[in-house]
Amino acid sequence: MTHHVTIPRIGAAEAWRKAARGYLFAGIPPEQITWGGIDSPPGLFDEPGTVPIPGTVTVPRDFIALANSVVWHADPSRFARLYGLLWRLRDNPGLMSDRGDRDLARLRQMEKNVHRCQHKMKAFVRFREVGDATAARRSFAAWFEPTHHTVEPTVQFFRRRFADMDWRILTPDVSAIFENGSVRLVEDKFDPQLPDDASEQLWITYFRNIFNPARLKVQAMQSEMPKKYWKNLPETAAIPELISTAPARARAMAAAAPTLPSRRAQRIQARVSSLASAWDGPAASLPAAIHACARCPLHLNATQAVPGEGPTNARLMIVGEQPGDQEDLQGRPFVGPAGQLFDEIAHSVGLDRREAFVTNAVKHFKFEPRGKRRLHKRASTSEISHCRWWLDAELASVKPRLIVAMGATAVEALTGSGTGILTRRGKIERTPAGQDVLITVHPAYLLRLPDADRRAEEIEKFRADLKIASDTTAIRA
Ligand code: URA
Repeated sequence: MTHHVTIPRIGAAEAWRKAARGYLFAGIPPEQITWGGIDSPPGLFDEPGTVPIPGTVTVPRDFIALANSVVWHADPSRFARLYGLLWRLRDNPGLMSDRGDRDLARLRQMEKNVHRCQHKMKAFVRFREVGDATAARRSFAAWFEPTHHTVEPTVQFFRRRFADMDWRILTPDVSAIFENGSVRLVEDKFDPQLPDDASEQLWITYFRNIFNPARLKVQAMQSEMPKKYWKNLPETAAIPELISTAPARARAMAAAAPTLPSRRAQRIQARVSSLASAWDGPAASLPAAIHACARCPLHLNATQAVPGEGPTNARLMIVGEQPGDQEDLQGRPFVGPAGQLFDEIAHSVGLDRREAFVTNAVKHFKFEPRGKRRLHKRASTSEISHCRWWLDAELASVKPRLIVAMGATAVEALTGSGTGILTRRGKIERTPAGQDVLITVHPAYLLRLPDADRRAEEIEKFRADLKIASDTTAIRA
């Protein structure tokens, strides 16, 4: 005997679930059941099924999600395919993760088709006003032709989205009617001829405005907005003209595009904007202002800000990267291992650190906690540029004859680019404001070099760089 099950169009998911559980519980194999919609009557030897009362059956959660989508597919074999898989799951509960299973693969494909159709419905339903535009609750209708039976599983989306108006989504299949806050599904046939209204023109204008002729890709556009939907989308009236005029409009856009200012103009602009926003308090209150700085989040974790120190009329300014662990705790620049190495080498070329103004490009210690240690982290370009405010204030107050920029961060802060230090070192460049900057490496780089010979070599080069600074500013130890 073959059981014939009729699944209604509305409420199909619930009806299929109930029948499948009943037949599964009763142990009826797939070959003894034919599944049809209300349009497919039972065959000659089919028994109109009295669905057995379901008991408890255990079904993988993954299958339930799959079935909840596939039941809305237009393929008439969907109910039988789902039941076939459900039957096989009894003996093989791991089947849902078997990527090589052809039945499952086909159902997954169907699930995808349904999801895509739901997505298209959300994107391409276009309401037109059908009631009195001045009524308290306005009334709209849309004609839509879905590929699968997706009105029912998608209706909640529209209910949430358009809760403050009455609407109907009419289709050749099931239609949804939302009135006074409640939704119902009907199978009535409707006339798809809806009146044009003002929102029609609105859609066309909107589409014209978002259409970028320079990005026109007709195939991609048609796969996102398939032609079958075009007839119900007001904006598609504009598509042929927009496509045919796209090349000319793209050329016109390119011709009208503003050109970038020259490099010189950019430099002047940078200088003007840095001058415009310069710190203008008295020099003596600068350290206190730096201590109170909260211009970027680095102040949140550091112990304190570390302002520059030294004579405010120094001829030489030494700029490092940022305070390290020791500097953060003591509140003074270059007092840790890198500072000690710097002092030693500077002294060897007759450069007295006490006569220079010593500071950093970034005033707060940036680190990553690792157990009890705080590991130095390089400041980002944005942190460097936030802190430029203070470095500029120090430069404006000290007005050094020469600045020594040690390491990429200092060089970036002072010249705008921190790359290629090893080829730029030992040379004097200019800040955007026109001050002389001698480029060199950071003493911490020397400390990190693992190879003793290489380290000795690099220390000699660093010494030579500091000698240039010493000679240029003639500060004697
Ligand atoms: N490294 C720096 O760049 N500055 C300091 O103050 C200490 C270490």
